[in-house]
Amino acid sequence: MILGLETSCDDTCAAVVDGAAVRSNVISSQGVHDRYGGVVPEIASRHHLELVNAVVDDALARADARLDDVDLVAVTQGPGLVGALLVGLQTAKGLAAARRLPLAPVDHLHGHVAATFLEPDPLQPPFLCLIASGGHTLLADVREPGDFEVIGQTLDDAAGEAFDKGARLLGLPYPGGPALEALAADGDPAAHAFPTAEGVGGLDFSFAGLKTALLYRLRDLGEARAAAARADIAASYQRAIVESLAARVERALAQTDHDRLAVGGGVAANGALRERLAALAPRVAVPAPALCTDNAAMIAAAARHVEPLPWPRYLDLDAYATGERGL
Ligand code: KG4
Ligand code: ZN
Repeated sequence: MILGLETSCDDTCAAVVDGAAVRSNVISSQGVHDRYGGVVPEIASRHHLELVNAVVDDALARADARLDDVDLVAVTQGPGLVGALLVGLQTAKGLAAARRLPLAPVDHLHGHVAATFLEPDPLQPPFLCLIASGGHTLLADVREPGDFEVIGQTLDDAAGEAFDKGARLLGLPYPGGPALEALAADGDPAAHAFPTAEGVGGLDFSFAGLKTALLYRLRDLGEARAAAARADIAASYQRAIVESLAARVERALAQTDHDRLAVGGGVAANGALRERLAALAPRVAVPAPALCTDNAAMIAAAARHVEPLPWPRYLDLDAYATGERGL
């Protein structure tokens, strides 16, 4: 049985995973960053500190387990906000050391990929994986459960960021994805032409130009006409993000010869994206929303494929903010 912790951004998460079964998956969203229009790192760290012990207790209780039942502690080591990561990492060290348990340091992106290994609809490699969240947008060629290669990634903003920034320009609340999707439901996606970064070659993504195009479109229309066309603009803007993602996925499927696609990250909740991707491969797996967004069950799932460190070798582990650990 694996106890997982994840505190890389603004969600304080703990979970208990047994094989591919999720026994509990507790996510405490801080909800205090909305008024700033984004996550404030220092505030995130302080809230993790206040919440983490209660969240771990809750995860164990919901799994009907005690710390004595845990065989391995798994924790996100990076990438993410260093102050936030350290709260989870030090908590995990304390919990593991108290029982002389081994500890598995997990790469956050490996976690997003591993969400697909979990029940109720587990998918085993090889497959192509698209991760699109507020913090990252990438394509991974997943060959083995513990071995994947990033074959495309965003050169600027993440897809979720594009949703959030677009929503903000349209006067919608943060996080913008769900709000923009709701507004787009009443709009015509063909009403406005927005760029899909076709100039960016290969499998890389770019969303910065799209956001700028929206800004100019709103300015050109003027306040009154822009207000009247909000739903059409939202639908067209959403379509540009979806098409931009789908074009790279299509290319990557052809290039890697995978016929199975897994999708993760908060943007995977988007209905238009799910519909578009479903047509691209014979098997498209999108885990439940609670496994797509940041969570600790995915960290525990990845830990099964990471070399665990025995006590006391993990005590001097450090968090990392950027990059990959090189899986
Ligand atoms: O994975 P996630 O919860 O957190 C990380 O960034 O790691 O992703 C959050 C992102 C936000 O940018 C949010 O706007 C976006 O996912 N998102 C959506 C939808 N729901 C959440 N984007 C588009 N459509 C949605 N329905
Ligand atoms: Zn994430």
